[in-house]
Amino acid sequence: MTSDSLIELSKFPGMGTTIFTVMSKMAQDCGAINLSQGFPDFDGPEHLRERVAWHMAHGHNQYAPLAGIPELQEQIAAKVFDLYGCVADPGLQIAVTPGATEAIYCAVTACIQPGDEVIIFDPAYDTYAPCVRLNGGVTRHIPLEYPDFRIDWQRVKDEINDRTRMIMLNSPHNPTGSVWCEDDIDSLRRVIAGRNILLLSDEVYEHITFDGRQHHSLLLYPDLAERAFCISSFGKTYHVTGWRMGYCVAPENLMREFLLIHQFINFSANAPLQYALADYLKKYPQYASELGIFYEKKRNLFGELLKNSKFKLIPSSGTFFQLADYSAISSDTDTEFSTRLTKDHKVAVIPISVFYQEPPDQRVIRFCFAKHDETLREAAERLLDL
Ligand SMILES: Cc1ncc(COP(=O)(O)O)c(C=O)c1O
Repeated sequence: MTSDSLIELSKFPGMGTTIFTVMSKMAQDCGAINLSQGFPDFDGPEHLRERVAWHMAHGHNQYAPLAGIPELQEQIAAKVFDLYGCVADPGLQIAVTPGATEAIYCAVTACIQPGDEVIIFDPAYDTYAPCVRLNGGVTRHIPLEYPDFRIDWQRVKDEINDRTRMIMLNSPHNPTGSVWCEDDIDSLRRVIAGRNILLLSDEVYEHITFDGRQHHSLLLYPDLAERAFCISSFGKTYHVTGWRMGYCVAPENLMREFLLIHQFINFSANAPLQYALADYLKKYPQYASELGIFYEKKRNLFGELLKNSKFKLIPSSGTFFQLADYSAISSDTDTEFSTRLTKDHKVAVIPISVFYQEPPDQRVIRFCFAKHDETLREAAERLLDL
């Protein structure tokens, strides 16, 4: 067998490398300020990092249990109860995973059979559709409505049929920064009523909402939570995306299926990090409630810095992303524009067309503002030149 015939066996013909890797590499190669990939340029809390070192030095270096160490499962259970009034059995309904990414893959793989349909809202985080396709599922893409990026629930209703098995939801939303309101929950409830449809709720930015908005976790609503995988990310919450730590909360029957997959992909998540996170959550339970304010200040600063630029900023209600329309600067496609911005102006960004199955005719890019104020100031100076 030649290597060419091996390539013909590709499960992903035509699939390229994820845009985040492409743009971060381009940023590095060009010496650009990296406002592309969604990670902070600052460290997580010192005490948390100290606890990792402590646990590594004190023998917590072997396999953790499949679904996570009980101490961390209990802390997650306490958190979802305090925040959302959700009573989750720590041992039966909570799994700690190597990042939200693995949790998404496990949830989809556990439930999607060949031919099952999954509804995805575009622009969508780039992991969703490939997970569905790898499992033989069929993605049904529904565009969010520009410029508010709200869900057209009538369209969702029209799209649902007997093959619809799952709806993938994400609020606060990457890349748009839109956040659900109570109406969305009511609409969701209506469209799935009487149907055997599961929900995957990607809530990795659950703590990052602005201007007094509440995060509507599905864990707040028992009738929705009973058919949902709710997924979060310690990486996003504690500024430690490189640790690859996340978790999933689901009803017992769904969690059982989830763990059947998880056990053969990663078996368990990193042990010393789990102990450290358990310590930290116990000691600083209020930490996450301050995160929204922290990032709101950064959003405001970045907006103020770009006030006199030619970019038109699209309001961000959550996450650490800011979309900007650049049509007053260029008619290039967003991929061309992002490349030019990175190479010539030394600020790396993400073109949002990559998050669509059928990209609309828009001139919009995404900035990540999870950066030191100084980094944002320097980037803004360069952007004001355009
Ligand atoms: C919407 C969304 N979901 C999931 C993830 C992945 O999270 P993690 O780094 O914990 O795997 C990201 C990361 O950017 C994201 O933006």
